[in-house]
Amino acid sequence: MVSRKALVSYGGEICLLYKSVPQRSYRKMDSHSKKIMVILTGAGISAESGLSTFRDSDGLWENHRVEEVATPEAYLKDPQLVWRFYSMRRIQASRATPNAAHLALAEFSYKQAENFEVYLISQNVDCLHQRADHYNRLEPINLHGSLHQSRCTGCETIYFDDYAYFDLDGNYAPGPTNLCDPIQRASMDYLHNYKLEYRNFLPLSPCCKESMRPHIVWFGEVPLYMDKIIPLLQKANIFVTIGTSGVVYPAAGFLELAQRNGAHTICINREPIPQNNYIDDFIQGSAGEKVPLFLETLKKLS
Ligand SMILES: NC(=O)c1ccc[n+]([C@@H]2O[C@H](COP(=O)([O-])OP(=O)(O)OC[C@H]3O[C@@H](n4cnc5c(N)ncnc54)[C@H](O)[C@@H]3O)[C@@H](O)[C@H]2O)c1
Ligand SMILES: [Zn+2]
Repeated sequence: MVSRKALVSYGGEICLLYKSVPQRSYRKMDSHSKKIMVILTGAGISAESGLSTFRDSDGLWENHRVEEVATPEAYLKDPQLVWRFYSMRRIQASRATPNAAHLALAEFSYKQAENFEVYLISQNVDCLHQRADHYNRLEPINLHGSLHQSRCTGCETIYFDDYAYFDLDGNYAPGPTNLCDPIQRASMDYLHNYKLEYRNFLPLSPCCKESMRPHIVWFGEVPLYMDKIIPLLQKANIFVTIGTSGVVYPAAGFLELAQRNGAHTICINREPIPQNNYIDDFIQGSAGEKVPLFLETLKKLS
């Protein structure tokens, strides 16, 4: 059984926030059934893999203003620039490796399957959760899409596509990265299994012969899978956010929703985030260190 008291006493020093939890949280936590743990990750969990977070880069994303590269308008205006940017991101993500936090989450969900039903929601598009999941157990719900997929602008069909169409210098140099795994690459859904036609150096979809765009939720677009995510937040016993600044909605509202529905809420982040009132335990520090420690403690308490 996991109790709030036990979590708070963990390590003595790591829980900076300690506030009263609504009675309904205790009811949920005291049940002897398997605990439902829902995790939300943001760019901070990948920082120790060498991928820069958005907040840490002064509103610039790899030297581009987001409006130039991560909006539907930008894509309409200059699809090549957008694809240069996303090709670069595919190359960077494929060169990064999952860190201790990604690996610990994947291992926990597999090894603690008897005690915990774990669901992972990620705002990240970098595929590091997927690549850490050696047990094939913790498929992330990518509410902002993913770098290893592209979408037909005609009919919205989604294809696996790990191609960088341009190299890091911006030259046309199409070639696969290792973002897709061998099964995805061998599937009918892998874009480059088709004989593609191209327009302006960019592939046309096999289905409609229309332009392909990155399967990424850009600024001003509606996040994916909210119909799956809301019920998970409503039934969670434990909700954990890791490495997210709590300023990008709707994800920034998940702590409140989960806590109001009776979950015990935990935030692991380098710095405090604005949702103080909806955090039961705040664990300050780097994800690579604190996530494995937190999961180890949870395991002992279960
Ligand atoms: N790796 C990626 O896929 C990636 C990278 C940059 C941005 N994005 C996108 O940009 C948006 C930005 O929102 P966000 O909240 O995810 O990120 P964010 O950049 O707004 O915030 C990152 C948070 O992580 C914290 N942090 C930094 N390093 C950390 C570490 N080592 N351990 C723990 N915490 C750490 C920071 O203090 C900050 O609060 C998201 O929608 C995301 O899709 C994704
Ligand atoms: Zn199509």
